[in-house]
Amino acid sequence: MSVLHGGSVLLSGGMVTTATQSRLAAVRFADGRIVEIGDLTPKPGEAVVDCSECLVLPGGIETHSHLDLEAAGTVTADDFATGTRSALAGGTTTVLDFATQFHGESLMEGVRRWHEKARGKAVTDYGFHLAMTQWRTEFADEMAEVVAAGVTSFKMYMAYRDSMMVDDDEIYAALSASSRAGATIGFHCENGLVIDALVREELDLGHTGAFYHQRTRPPALEREALGRLSMIAGLLDAQHYIVHLSAGETIDEVRRARQRGSKVVAETCPQYLLLDDSLYGTAESDGNDELEVRQYVMSPPLRAPENLDALWSGLADGDIQFVGTDHCSFNLHGQKDQATDFARIPNGAPGIELRFSLLYTYGVAAERISVERFVAVTAENAARYFGLYPRKGTLLPGSDADIVVYDPRPRWTVSHDQLHDNVDHTPYEGRQIQGRVRDVFLRGQHVVRDGVLADDLARGEFVACGPPDSDIR
Ligand code: URP
Ligand code: ZN
Ligand code: ZN
Repeated sequence: MSVLHGGSVLLSGGMVTTATQSRLAAVRFADGRIVEIGDLTPKPGEAVVDCSECLVLPGGIETHSHLDLEAAGTVTADDFATGTRSALAGGTTTVLDFATQFHGESLMEGVRRWHEKARGKAVTDYGFHLAMTQWRTEFADEMAEVVAAGVTSFKMYMAYRDSMMVDDDEIYAALSASSRAGATIGFHCENGLVIDALVREELDLGHTGAFYHQRTRPPALEREALGRLSMIAGLLDAQHYIVHLSAGETIDEVRRARQRGSKVVAETCPQYLLLDDSLYGTAESDGNDELEVRQYVMSPPLRAPENLDALWSGLADGDIQFVGTDHCSFNLHGQKDQATDFARIPNGAPGIELRFSLLYTYGVAAERISVERFVAVTAENAARYFGLYPRKGTLLPGSDADIVVYDPRPRWTVSHDQLHDNVDHTPYEGRQIQGRVRDVFLRGQHVVRDGVLADDLARGEFVACGPPDSDIR
């Protein structure tokens, strides 16, 4: 199947939906850009795609992936080729991946290495955040160079002691420098020192199974870390955000911080909206089947069921601004099963392909969020926050023709063999889904047609991010 290039295309009869409105309209695009939207009739020779009964949506923006990441002595199962193929099939046209500066590297070395990993392999457009695994004083100056190279968001870890965790004074220095550079920092909010103490306690008791991972990372440690971060960022009035927010009590902290005028925004992930800690089993039985539980070893871990409603409310009410998957895929066989105790299991789970359909099914179809809010949290807010709007994240004349045609009628059941990633499982196996990604256009190229990926996918382009805009809800 070949992708469409060049000429004018009309998407007709669909419900054109952005973060602010839905209307029956046609969308015309040419040369990779949207030309006009409205009550349009086909021009002679124009290609027409019938979108009746379907939603016409901005292509999704994935705010959180780890592709080709070296971690825990191994490397993620998905690289930029397989990870972005999977994303595209699921309606995501731009992926913001976590480039990583490893110990001893300069910041730009991290950025350059990620360009090498992505270039020629990615089939979505892509940008980077830069995760800093340490803080060094010279980074204060290097940040400006990173921002000039189109990477305007950084990440720091308040957990993972002895490998990536940073201290409060380093957080202060980094936020001060990122403010001056016109950037933001996303924080992994968990108190790494207390986690470390809890891990040692469990291991000393001979508790080595995957079940004990979550016992060492209670939600209070996420809330505490965010509270501490908010206090530090407040001294500087600095842009910052919390990645993969997982607990209801942390949303209260975000809400209070925003009410105080803090420039904080929040990202959550489908796993925290849909999966709960019953999947780990109970202490009485030392947890569920070990391999089964290992697939849910991620940080932060899955939470008690009452958190899920709180997260959905936070998403609907504007306390959480976007949903990224934290796609960090490790095979159960050959990777997660190799660890000798829970503290050594590679952390993370896959999910990049199902973000759209899970959010549509359990958000929109379940009437927890409106379809306009769906667009806000899957595309527009990320585009605004990471300085890609209005090129990405919306449907406006002049925007890139990154468009998803979503048919809300079919029902299907998730089975891993239908997905396009390179890992051996999905945490969503057996889930019922409402609707499907029917067509995807990436800068006007018809890359998914009637649910099938084109076999001559075009190369994704690097997108330079601009200054963060935290004025989103
Ligand atoms: O378990 C997770 N989330 N692994 C990926 C790394 C991170 O902390 O985002
Ligand atoms: Zn993290
Ligand atoms: Zn992550």
